Amino acid sequence: MEFVTYEVDGAVGIITINRPKALNALNSTVLEELNEAFDGVDLNVVRCLILTGAGEKSFVAGADIGEMSNLTKAEGEAFGKKGNDVFRKIETFPIPVIAAVNGFALGGGCEISMSCDIRLCSDNAVFGQPEVGLGITPGFGGTQRLARLVSPGMAKQLIYTARNIKAAEAYRIGLVNAVCSEVKDEEGNVVKSAQEALMEAAVKMAKGIAAQAPIAVRNCKKAINEGLQVDMDQAIVIEEKLFGDCFETEDQKAGMGNFLEKDKEKKLKVVPFKNC
Ligand code: CAA
Repeated sequence: MEFVTYEVDGAVGIITINRPKALNALNSTVLEELNEAFDGVDLNVVRCLILTGAGEKSFVAGADIGEMSNLTKAEGEAFGKKGNDVFRKIETFPIPVIAAVNGFALGGGCEISMSCDIRLCSDNAVFGQPEVGLGITPGFGGTQRLARLVSPGMAKQLIYTARNIKAAEAYRIGLVNAVCSEVKDEEGNVVKSAQEALMEAAVKMAKGIAAQAPIAVRNCKKAINEGLQVDMDQAIVIEEKLFGDCFETEDQKAGMGNFLEKDKEKKLKVVPFKNC
């Protein structure tokens, strides 16, 4: 592939959008290659994915403005569908996807990060939906996912004003789960850049997820995603079915067996949450 790379480290897969000269902007080829990359993930091996961008400046600076500039109404709609189809594939992908946001996440960049399950970012990240400044609406799910993820009021403010926000603000409004900064030693020397800290945190989180019972993790993703689309009465039925589906699996027998046998090594541990 020209603009997307895929590597596997044990049970963790890393998909990288690799078009740094255009700040990883999403043109049709990038979208098609992303689709191909997700289709190529071997779900018998990989249990958690990380999606990131190449370079230290940008995760994804949006949909490709050059490609969009001369589209007709019908072509614009088709381009929106092209992005939406890929992003929906990411959102409903059977295993969790962590966005490691290493810089600009604007327009389609913010939108693709929101189609992932979890967002971590470096402290140089900038989020925003600048589309109205370009004379268009967000077109890859931004009007829908931002309102659901933060709040309708905050989403409307960001979208109507086209104002970009920094990592700290994105963290404050709940758009990202954690912000990673450079790490210095006692003498003040940088021992880890923010980008390195970000990837380290993403891989650590992905490995932590991959170490859990895989059917249970997949069912949790499905239950949360599908439950959010319906009312509570229907949502709890979705949960009941997916909960029941875990029983009689090897993981359920082993997981509960470890507890009952008082195997302290394998018992769940409480790990304090901290920003990276
Ligand atoms: N589309 C196409 N090319 C882009 C791009 C985009 N979204 N964003 C950046 N690039 C290209 C620039 O054209 C430039 O290419 P050249 O070197 O060939 O000129 C290269 O990437 C580097 O960009 P800049 O020189 O602009 O870098 P900068 O550091 O000065 O600015 C930036 C960085 C603030 C992110 C600026 O590039 C920018 O504002 N980009 C556009 C952001 C944007 O509006 N995104 C939303 C797009 S619309 C959308 O996504 C619709 C949707 O919902 C589907």
